[in-house]
Amino acid sequence: MNFDELIEKRRSIRKFLNDSVDENQIEELIRAAATAPSGCNSQCWKFVAVKSPDKIKALAEAVEKGVHRFYNGCEENFVASRVKQTTFFRNAPLVILVYLTEMKYHDPRVTDYYSSKGYGSAEMLSALGNPDILSIGAAVENLLLKAEEMGLGACWMNDPVVAEKEINELFGAAENHRLMSVIPVGKPAYTPREKSVKPLAEIMEIV
Ligand SMILES: Cc1cc2nc3c(=O)[nH]c(=O)nc-3n(C[C@H](O)[C@H](O)[C@H](O)COP(=O)(O)O)c2cc1C
Repeated sequence: MNFDELIEKRRSIRKFLNDSVDENQIEELIRAAATAPSGCNSQCWKFVAVKSPDKIKALAEAVEKGVHRFYNGCEENFVASRVKQTTFFRNAPLVILVYLTEMKYHDPRVTDYYSSKGYGSAEMLSALGNPDILSIGAAVENLLLKAEEMGLGACWMNDPVVAEKEINELFGAAENHRLMSVIPVGKPAYTPREKSVKPLAEIMEIV
């Protein structure tokens, strides 16, 4: 597959065959993620690959609990649909949790400037356009493309992040690590429908 075919073929996959993903494949996926660009080359990420079916089941239960807590008081059908949408990874052979660790700006003159203005680290990164969060996005996209190249399907999920508290209770996480995404991975159980992509005229300007 050439690059254009790869990026076109990659789609979100939400149902998986039972085939397991082995440790070498997991390492290949994470290695691809880890070569992504990151602000100040901080490589401000951590990946937890959950492959035990029991742990994946426990993860789905933690997300379900977190969804109930988060949407507490909402209409029952709505909450039930949120549970469904956030836990479809239940039968995936692999789920990768992606954490943002800490992005340290490489030039102390910059951090000194911002702190002299009363900015904390989060405010500084926000003023700079959130390079920490964007770095995570770059890593996840690398991972998704690698999965596609390996004949695997995956889905970049953020909806389960509302259950970060419950997920941390299950797996633990350093205090300054922030759960950013949850990515089920496995052999696709179906071929997704074609997706329409906005025309360039709508999204592009050359000035
Ligand atoms: C940051 C981000 C978060 C997403 N979160 C979810 C999610 O929580 N659940 C889900 O089913 N899909 C999620 N998606 C997948 C999108 O729905 C999907 O990428 C989009 O519909 C385009 O389809 P495609 O990936 O097949 O091209 C997310 C995608 C991105 C980039």
